[in-house]
Amino acid sequence: MSDTAMPSRTSGCPVAHGALSAERTPTGCPVSQRAAEFDPFEDGYQQDPPEYVRWAREQEPIFYSPKLGYWVITRYDDIKAVFRDNLTFSPSNALEKITPTGEEANAVLASYGFALNRTLVNEDEPAHMPRRRALMDPFTPEALKHHEPLVRELARSYVDRFIDDGRADLVDQMLWEIPLTVALHFLGVPEEDMDTLRKYSIAHTVNTWGRPKPEEQVAVAHAVGNFWQYAGKVLDKMRQDPDAPGWMQYGIRKQMQHPEVVTDSYLHSMMMAGIVAAHETTANATANAVKLLLQHPQVWQELCDDPGLIPNAVEECLRHNGSVAAWRRLVTKDTQVGGVDLPAGSRLLIVTSSANHDEGHFADADLFDIRRDNASDHLTFGYGSHQCMGKNLARMEMQIFLEEFTRRLPHMRLSEQRFSYVPNTSFRGPEHLWVEWDPRANPERANAGLRDVQVPVRIGEPSAHAIARPVVVERVTPVADGIVRLRLVSPDGKPLPRWTPGSHIDVECGSP
Ligand code: HEM
Repeated sequence: MSDTAMPSRTSGCPVAHGALSAERTPTGCPVSQRAAEFDPFEDGYQQDPPEYVRWAREQEPIFYSPKLGYWVITRYDDIKAVFRDNLTFSPSNALEKITPTGEEANAVLASYGFALNRTLVNEDEPAHMPRRRALMDPFTPEALKHHEPLVRELARSYVDRFIDDGRADLVDQMLWEIPLTVALHFLGVPEEDMDTLRKYSIAHTVNTWGRPKPEEQVAVAHAVGNFWQYAGKVLDKMRQDPDAPGWMQYGIRKQMQHPEVVTDSYLHSMMMAGIVAAHETTANATANAVKLLLQHPQVWQELCDDPGLIPNAVEECLRHNGSVAAWRRLVTKDTQVGGVDLPAGSRLLIVTSSANHDEGHFADADLFDIRRDNASDHLTFGYGSHQCMGKNLARMEMQIFLEEFTRRLPHMRLSEQRFSYVPNTSFRGPEHLWVEWDPRANPERANAGLRDVQVPVRIGEPSAHAIARPVVVERVTPVADGIVRLRLVSPDGKPLPRWTPGSHIDVECGSP
């Protein structure tokens, strides 16, 4: 077979990919031209990961990327199968540097005693599950309720600072700092210098999921090393007062009962990784959500008119434009996914943002539909035994931010701008989000009480039954005695989403 020929399925290759490159997979198969070109550090991936891999999702759902040295998986069912089996697909590489650093940077990291190791997200069984169980209580809905007043107070006071300006960079002026403050409170860390932490956590993202240039690597290594030492000092302070509130103190107390489950190495690593896990993911998710909503002014208006839609809108934003674009796994024994052979040792980039746009699971997957009844099937929080423990805290924060914006700044719109992203495979959100509005039209100028109105948050996943979609009965056709056929259309004249086989609808009629 020539290098440019289309492979036939009888050749043993399960995938009908297009033109081939000169590259080979580790299993000896030719790599398609598009797979050879795949580069997640390029602007195309940063701007829109699911669109960047649409070709793969549709034609070559699992491919080998020679530039990255990873197999890339793009379809919903395949990714879910990988998440489901955490023995064959180990999470141990989840926090590994995706771009190995040079000797100089490694020496800098070593000089700080950097030893980030297993936490939860990258821990294998049998160590993982007992630790996850031991540390779960602070994430229950009851426990999370205690954080709601802080999030509300922060959201209100940050909006107060800029509401009369008519213009704000929501990332710099609010969305970065509040999730950081909430993360620090949740972990039990005393509030420290936010700017330094911000620098540290970005450095950690670039160090882990990015491709720093050789000349940047050393500076990144210093920041990461400092972050590591800072985490150690904070932990030492916490050990002196283990009864103080916070998830880390909870871990310290659990360590006294189960030292083999909650180890020293875990606590130090989690002290650092926990800030990033809880902070950047949520900050980015909210910035992505606000951007997406304002890019759909009609949807934004609907949300302002009916804040009851916010919980499901959060879910649809996480599906359509989530803050974790891809995650990683390591193959522990020879296996197959989607008919493709994956030998032991294969590294997998599972593009969850692509799964979230898979037509095979989400009807009209590219449509942004805040009433979608399976939006919370998205894989942005992962799936299975490692699924995000902080998902309900993140959901709560996002709901409160959207509630604050829709109530106090319903006339907000996106300013002209080009969005930039920190180049990396996994954590994704715009570095800046400029919005503008006419402060003379601020609703609270006419109704001062509006500032303090609260809509209850829903802690947990929204119920699909709570979602109603307004429709207009366009035609009623009698088909038999006592039976009519209804033709329902959307009030805005746009097509209604497709029904999937087996679905049924409850029609709620207004009063006559
Ligand atoms: C929108 C915000 C967030 C997103 C998109 C997100 C995403 C993720 C993802 C993709 C994973 C790995 C899942 C897997 O391997 O199956 C994860 C794990 C985890 N997340 Fe989050 N996360 C968010 C917020 C948070 C917050 C606020 C916290 C803590 C307060 C948190 C704590 C954790 C922990 C502890 C794990 C490890 C769970 C385990 O391995 O058992 N996350 N998250």
